[in-house]
Amino acid sequence: MRRIATALSLLLASTACTTVPSEGGSMRAGEPMVSPILTGADAVDSMTYAQPQVARVTHVDLDLALDFDRKRVTGVANLDILARPDAGAIVLDSNGLEIVGVRDGAGNPLAWKLGDTVSEGGKGAPLTITMGNAREVQIQYASAPDAEALQWLTPEQTAGGEYPYLFSQGQAILNRTWIPTQDSPGIRQTWAARITAPKPLDVVMSGVRQGEPEDLGNGRRAFRFVMDKPVPPYLIAIAAGDIDFAAIGPRTGVWAEPSTLARARAEVGDTEEMVEAAEELYGDYRWGRYDMIVLPPSFPYGGMENPVMTFLTPTFIAGDRSNNGLVAHELAHSWSGNLVTNAVWEDSWLNEGVTSYFENRIVEAVYGKKRAEQEAALSFANIEETLAEVGMNAPGTALHHSTDGAEIGSAITYDKGHFFLRTVESIAGRERFDAWLRQWFDNHAFQPATSQLFYDDMMANLVRNDAEAEQLALREWIFQPGLPSNVARPDPAAFAEVDSAVQAYAASSSIPVVYNGWTSAERMRFLDNIPKERSAAQLSELDRQLGLSTTQNNEILFLWLELALANRYEPAVPQAEQFLARVGRAKFVRPLFQVLWSEGEWGRPIAKRIYAKTRPSYHAVTRGAVDRVLGMTS
Ligand code: BES
Ligand code: ZN
Repeated sequence: MRRIATALSLLLASTACTTVPSEGGSMRAGEPMVSPILTGADAVDSMTYAQPQVARVTHVDLDLALDFDRKRVTGVANLDILARPDAGAIVLDSNGLEIVGVRDGAGNPLAWKLGDTVSEGGKGAPLTITMGNAREVQIQYASAPDAEALQWLTPEQTAGGEYPYLFSQGQAILNRTWIPTQDSPGIRQTWAARITAPKPLDVVMSGVRQGEPEDLGNGRRAFRFVMDKPVPPYLIAIAAGDIDFAAIGPRTGVWAEPSTLARARAEVGDTEEMVEAAEELYGDYRWGRYDMIVLPPSFPYGGMENPVMTFLTPTFIAGDRSNNGLVAHELAHSWSGNLVTNAVWEDSWLNEGVTSYFENRIVEAVYGKKRAEQEAALSFANIEETLAEVGMNAPGTALHHSTDGAEIGSAITYDKGHFFLRTVESIAGRERFDAWLRQWFDNHAFQPATSQLFYDDMMANLVRNDAEAEQLALREWIFQPGLPSNVARPDPAAFAEVDSAVQAYAASSSIPVVYNGWTSAERMRFLDNIPKERSAAQLSELDRQLGLSTTQNNEILFLWLELALANRYEPAVPQAEQFLARVGRAKFVRPLFQVLWSEGEWGRPIAKRIYAKTRPSYHAVTRGAVDRVLGMTS
């Protein structure tokens, strides 16, 4: 009874305004923690059907079987609901779920209805359950074989070649293809799961594994997981396959297929140090363990910040830890994104921009100022290039921007967000800024946030006077397009040597002999800035002297292939073909198809030929992105 009273008063309190319990939600010993919701107009999520002010999910309990033959998860989702006394129904999100039946906590059948599916944008359909006075519902269901969050890999698509593999990708609104809940970043839920899988597969999730797996005696094992902290549902994630674990530090470790594990473990060897550096900066790591899984190369992103289990692409492994900004980034999300979460996707910069800034601070602490400044300079170049392309007035270049505009990529949400915080830091001073950011995470822990809330908090807790407010130009940064003139530019010295090498090469085709002594960031800067139009002879000379087509670093290889294909360089075609067959990361795959496509009668047949072979191996995210480039969307 008390639980309901507490929960109800919370619902009402948070409905009245944005006053929320200071510790991030109500928590009493033995009771699940419930986070507040935000109810202002700026926190209304257009991507969900849920009406959280009427009825909302506070806890999800999954009991699911992984069916690799039919590419389905099947089972039951048990939801705890917090609702207004007069709420007779709850609306959930579904995209393609096959609902078998719905019951209340006592097992009585409940009426339910799947509405019309919106074809655009992946919003799916509302699942409305008539619950009467019930505040617990059990949904028996199966995911569809083409559920976009899930990629089912055949044994041939894994490194080991012997066992199938499954992984999920929830952000932004894909989890509604395998979990019937309210799929909105502002509606936090605790969760638990029991997952059965065929032996000898191991299962990991973005929750803490409970004990040893239970042998069910039928060739399957059951794994149990708990996430007792309320998280936005896009952070519920699963992976299953022939995977092993290697410890790094006392609370850090990495999972991967056996044949990848040693390389993976070596690459992420600095992770425990990174966690320590992050805690030193912005307060305790609140999630217990920090483990990672290095997935098969079809994982569509570089990384995904699934709590206690970051998901990583294997393509970041270069052998020299040079792409470990990725690990710093996903780790930083344990504060920005997972602790304090954008309430709506229009405020993604609160997740990604703040994280990109935090990432750079971790890189500085662990790898030093020089590397951090170089990575910041690459980030700044991305802003400049993008603004030059789309224009300073394009509405999508405000940090807070609509999600249905043209795809601008990472330059605004990530890089402009990063440089916003860097600018505030440079004006307020590091000490004062760090104290502010730390209190932001502490005071909004396990809660959603909006741009307006961020602005209000800076005005209340950071800005000292009118003069400073004017100097900071916070509203311009957050709500106006373009780049404010007070931006704290990167140190031009960061790439002084590379930039003069670029000039020398542009003037006289002299290839820098020092290239092989350069950092990865320096090499990327060089390749990104040399003249875009190159003859076959020039490309061949670059490749011969710099070993571009044989590099172990996929970031460099990608830049080489992009440059070469843009110049219709035939020897790069088989290299690109191999790369596109090996790698499914959208950041690499989409632009390469884009370049081929823009090379008209030369490139389009090549793009079509390659894509016909590689498309089936890509995750739905990457497939969708390339389909759009090749005009294959219906
Ligand atoms: N949360 C993102 C990945 C993401 C973004 C998934 C938007 C779905 C929608 C993740 O933290 C990320 O930013 N990954 C980057 C890493 C990079 C910036 C270091 C990536 O995948 O490239
Ligand atoms: Zn991120």
